[in-house]
Amino acid sequence: MDDLERLRAQAADCRNCDLWEHATQTVFGEGRPGAPLMFVGEQPGDHEDLEGSPFVGPAGALLDKAMAEVGIARDDVYVTNAVKHFKFEQRGKRRIHKRPGATELKACHPWLDAELEVVHPRMVCALGAIAAQSLYGSKFKVTVMRGQLVSWDREPAAMATVHPSSILRAPDDAARRSAYAEFVNDLQVAASVLDAA
Ligand code: URA
Repeated sequence: MDDLERLRAQAADCRNCDLWEHATQTVFGEGRPGAPLMFVGEQPGDHEDLEGSPFVGPAGALLDKAMAEVGIARDDVYVTNAVKHFKFEQRGKRRIHKRPGATELKACHPWLDAELEVVHPRMVCALGAIAAQSLYGSKFKVTVMRGQLVSWDREPAAMATVHPSSILRAPDDAARRSAYAEFVNDLQVAASVLDAA
């Protein structure tokens, strides 16, 4: 068993907060140790909770498409989330996403730290405000800092962009197209850092 598999096995039984009680399973990060780029999302969604893998739903499909456009290979990427259980509110048959709170983010942070340690990426990219604040501190503003290199107290180069779900939620086609183009621009920054290494 390598270190990542060991961590995944430990996280499967995580009881650091209460989210495990209603979620189907822990959704740990996926990718290879040594992957040069780590994406950190917020938390698994409905699809991810059922499948047990991060970014396998609509947001993941959009991320895959944008990565392909800037030439980032799937195999060069480790994807994970700031919180590893799905937090939701049951409304009839539907499970509606709920934002993780500070307690859950804090409880889950040791797993993210351990993933950073073991995967040892050259670059980390936060997707959305929750991931960015979990990594870079609660004052971090994605709207101001997106697409720029972030200085922080860890080794990998770091940046943030919006969460792909926010693009899917854009009010109309024109807004969606422009949000997607900006997202691709941000990923281009990550791709350039990787190319330069
Ligand atoms: N949104 C996230 O933040 N993470 C996932 O894994 C899926 C959707």
